[in-house]
Formats: sequence, C-alpha cells, structure tokens
Amino acid sequence: MSDIAEILALSPVIPVLTIEDANDAVPLARALLGGGLRVLEVTLRTEQALDCISAIARAMPDAIVGAGTVLSARDCARAHDTGARFAVSPGLTDGLAQSPLPLLPGIATASEIMRGLDFGLTCFKFFPAESSGGVRALKAFAGPFGQVRFCPTGGISQDNAPLYLALANVVCIGGTWIAPENLIAEKNWSAIAELARAASRLRTPSIKSDAAGHP
Ligand code: 3PG
Repeated sequence: MSDIAEILALSPVIPVLTIEDANDAVPLARALLGGGLRVLEVTLRTEQALDCISAIARAMPDAIVGAGTVLSARDCARAHDTGARFAVSPGLTDGLAQSPLPLLPGIATASEIMRGLDFGLTCFKFFPAESSGGVRALKAFAGPFGQVRFCPTGGISQDNAPLYLALANVVCIGGTWIAPENLIAEKNWSAIAELARAASRLRTPSIKSDAAGHP
C-alpha cells in the first residue's frame, strides 16, 4: 500500500501510541487489532519506538504500523528501514516532503495546506485539531480546499469523534484516548481492547452530501 489515502481509509480511528517498554509493543498491538483497529501509529517519542515498530511489523502481519512524531528526513529514513508502512509528522518540511514512506504531514493553517499542495500532497493531519479551531476550521477549509482530506488529531475523544467523522473532508481521526499511558503502564490489555472496540464502531457516514458536512 503506497498511498496514504488508501491507508487512512482502512480504519475510522488511528491510535497514537507512546510505548515506554518494548515488551509491551506486541501485546498492545494485539489488543488494538483484537478491538478492530489495524492501522497503528507508534510515535518516535521513546528510545524503544523503532524496536516497537519492527516487533509489531514482524509479529502482526495484519497490522499497518506507521511511525508518528517524525520530525526529520532522518527519522523518516530510520522508520522506513525498520518496517514502518507510513509516517506521520506534526508538521511539514522540505526534507519530509521527500519521504520514502507514504506521508501524513501536519497542518493547521491555509498556507500550510497550500505548501503541501505544492508538494503534490492532498491528505493532512490537522494538528492540534481542537485548539486550532476543530470542526469549525475543517468546515471552513472545505470551501477553498475541496480536494483535500484530513485526519484530525489532538484533543479528540470518543465523545467528540462523531462530530469530526461526520465531515466529508475527514477520512479518519487519530488520538491517544484508545491507549492511554496509565492503561499501558498497567498492561491492562483488556481495557485497551474495549476502548478500541468502541472506537472501531465509529464510522464515517457512507453518504455525505458536501465537504462542509451539511446534510
Ligand atoms: C499527538 O500527536 O500527540 C496526537 O495529536 C495525540 O493527541 P491527543 O493526546 O490529544 O489524542
């Protein structure tokens, strides 16, 4: 799967994971896949992150595991070498635009979207979603950027997720609420599987009349 749009279309929710102990990577991924979420983002915020990505990629062929918090072309190359299938960044740089992996770069403004369009990109992480205008900002982006699709992340929860997923320009959402730090530390895989199950039941409505989400 070489296209970020195809990857994002596989699941309504992408869990954003920060894993401190590499031994937790596979049980955590198993809980998430068991709950119905197969696209996973492991953030490069811990020293073990790349080992976690490679462990999940080897042990769980059905998982589509990507690297998150990719801040440079070097991060991207390392993630690629480790077996990541896609890369997510909070922003966009010239170096990242040359990513060897399908790339989901972060944007928060119209000019940042236009810079991404110049690179031929049309799918973006809208980050940090809630504090950058949330659903109202995405509705406003639908006017000038009708061809652009978003994965909002940052401040999203099970409660406000349906408001985002109802928008025609939102393909999926991302967040940490499905695998919170405390549940990972407790190795509470059943609670995480339950959160994943609830998240996997969130769906983008199959019929959306316009990109602004008007019925
Ligand atoms: C991130 O990259 O940290 C994500 O946006 C997660 O944000 P959240 O913790 O608000 O879900």
